Amino acid sequence: MGKQAKLELDGKTYILPVVVGSEGEHGVDISTLRQTSGLITLDDGYGNTGSCVSKITFIDGDKGILRYRGYPIEELAEKSTFIEAAYLIIYGELPTSAQLKRFSDLLTANEMLHESMKNHFATFPATAHPMAILSSMINAVSCYHPRLIEGYKADMFDVQAARLLSKVRTIAAFAYRVSRGLPAIYPKPSYKYTANFLHMMFSEPYQDYDLKPEVVRALDLIFLLHADHEQNCSTSTVRMIASSQANLFASAAGGVCALWGPLHGGANQAVIEMLEDIHRSGDDGSRFIAAAKDKNSGKRLMGFGHRVYKNYDPRAKIIKAQCDNLLKVLNISDPLLDIAKHLEEAALKDSYFVERKLYPNVDFYSGIIMRAIGIPKEMFTVIFAIGRMPGWIANYKEIVDHQGTRIYRPRQIYTGETERHFVSLNQRKSKA
Ligand code: SDX
Repeated sequence: MGKQAKLELDGKTYILPVVVGSEGEHGVDISTLRQTSGLITLDDGYGNTGSCVSKITFIDGDKGILRYRGYPIEELAEKSTFIEAAYLIIYGELPTSAQLKRFSDLLTANEMLHESMKNHFATFPATAHPMAILSSMINAVSCYHPRLIEGYKADMFDVQAARLLSKVRTIAAFAYRVSRGLPAIYPKPSYKYTANFLHMMFSEPYQDYDLKPEVVRALDLIFLLHADHEQNCSTSTVRMIASSQANLFASAAGGVCALWGPLHGGANQAVIEMLEDIHRSGDDGSRFIAAAKDKNSGKRLMGFGHRVYKNYDPRAKIIKAQCDNLLKVLNISDPLLDIAKHLEEAALKDSYFVERKLYPNVDFYSGIIMRAIGIPKEMFTVIFAIGRMPGWIANYKEIVDHQGTRIYRPRQIYTGETERHFVSLNQRKSKA
């Protein structure tokens, strides 16, 4: 008999099984609670609730550990590439050379968009946020692949996954080009994933973009570091949508919308806007830190804090080091990096942040790298979405592969009006 938990209420005792994960995490399994007791649990923001068991990513927030399928993020960041890590996350194992070649060939075969998709891009105003374009165009792409709309077919998964992962890059680059009134640049089959994205973003019809290896490597690392992060807001959204048996593209489009929020993936854009405001105001960061501690200021130190990490986000450490490397190679000195470092130094010595265990997260430094590459800040969360696509695909696969997956349908505790009866219009009195 495995471990059990005991719940006592109103003189009754309920025994609940305890699930123990491969890293020793304990979860009280309440899947029979309502049926046996009529009770439900309540957990605002799901801070204490596991929605699933998963084999994809492990995080230890206290120790600052992040592993994709058991491999430490530090090793993958040093030795792997985004596409190899994407294969690992989606399929569970590091690919052999043959598997990696097949995966890469599938991505190449699916990098183009249907030519009539260009009509959709043309209808967006130049000011349209690329995250709005991305989420709508992911669903638009699926309309050109009717079999995809039919929902999950195991024998179609590899092509669907490659189609989504490859085309999301083309959609993003086209959205950027159209927003600048520039001609779309088509992918080059000879280029690998990240180089091709940079080519589609920054080449011109008359001149190819100069693909500096250090720039390609820096962006590939950004994608790799964002590739999955267990049950964050957007990934949970993807699983929620997938649980209704909606198709992969619909699930990913929903993930894009959840990621957009400034408390989540939108934070990377918010960090740069925060640093720009501080720079413009001539503040060395001290005034902003004071405001971020003041609940009435409506300001937060963006890029700081995390629901799970109560230690330094391991991804932030890697990105911060990459910032220094890349700016040196590109011979760029960015005042925003200096301000970011000053903010980090001040916050990590300030009891407000220390007591709340608020450390830099993945978004704190990533924008500095994207700025150095020339990616505009409104595209930062799109870059996050491209990086996160393997994680969303893997979580979608976990849902659809799991026999007996039930539709996600949380309960609630109702606190509204008790029963009352209809009042005709001429009888109603304003409550104001
Ligand atoms: C991502 O979940 C993931 O894994 C996400 C992600 C991924 O890879 O998918 O890691 C990516 O989304 C990273 C987080 C990006 N967001 C930001 O950087 C926005 C700024 N950070 C916060 O808003 C906040 O820290 C969250 C949203 C990240 C976490 O919020 P929680 O867990 O709900 O924490 P909370 O808002 O309840 O804060 C606890 C306390 C509060 O103070 P008290 O009420 O206890 O006095 O800490 C304070 C908060 O006011 N606080 C901050 C703060 N973050 C938390 N105060 C100032 N600045 C901050 N950044």
